[in-house]
Amino acid sequence: MAIRKIAQIGHPVLRQRARELTREELAAPGTQQFIDDLIETMRDADGAGLAAIQVYEPIRIAAIEVRNNPRYPYKPPIPLTVLVNPVLTPVDDEEFNNYEGCLSVPNLRGMVKRRVHVRVQAWDRHGNAIDEIVHGLKAGTYQHEVDHLDGKIFVDRVTDPTTLTTWTEFERHHRPAFIEQVTALVARVGE
Ligand code: NI
Repeated sequence: MAIRKIAQIGHPVLRQRARELTREELAAPGTQQFIDDLIETMRDADGAGLAAIQVYEPIRIAAIEVRNNPRYPYKPPIPLTVLVNPVLTPVDDEEFNNYEGCLSVPNLRGMVKRRVHVRVQAWDRHGNAIDEIVHGLKAGTYQHEVDHLDGKIFVDRVTDPTTLTTWTEFERHHRPAFIEQVTALVARVGE
C-alpha cells in the first residue's frame, strides 16, 4: 500500500467528471490495489472521505469512514465504505446546513446546504450492489464525496461567503452553534 498525494483546489483534475468503471476494471488487481491506497491515504490525512479524483485518478470511486476523527469529532461513526459508480437520489426536499471542509481545500471550512435523506445506489469494492438510504451527517458526507466525482468542490456550494472560516477560527467562533445544530439533527435522524 502507498499513501498518495492529494490534489489541491486549483488543480484541473478536481474539475473533471470522473468516469464510470466496468466490472472488469473494478476486479483488476491494479484497481483493488488503488482502493487500498485510497483508504490508506484517507486515514493518513484524517479524512472522513476521499474520492479517487482527489488522488489524480478520475474514476468513480470514493472511500468513506468516520472513526474517532480529530477533524470532525462531532460526526457519528461510519464504517469503512467504498462506493463505486455511486448514484445519489434525494428522498425528499429536506435540507440542513453543514459546515464542511475538504482535504483538497487547505484550512478552509464553509456552510453548504445538503439533503437530509438520500438514496445511494452503488457497488462495493467487490462489485456487490449497495442500495440504501442514508441520513444526516452521513448523507452530507456521501454528497460531498459524490460531488468530487462530478468535478465539484464544497466551496462551489457555499451560498454565503461570510460563513467561510479557517479551522482555527471555526473552533473559536462557529463550533458551538454548529455543534448545537448538528447534535439536534443527529438526535433526530440517527446519523
Ligand atoms: Ni472533499
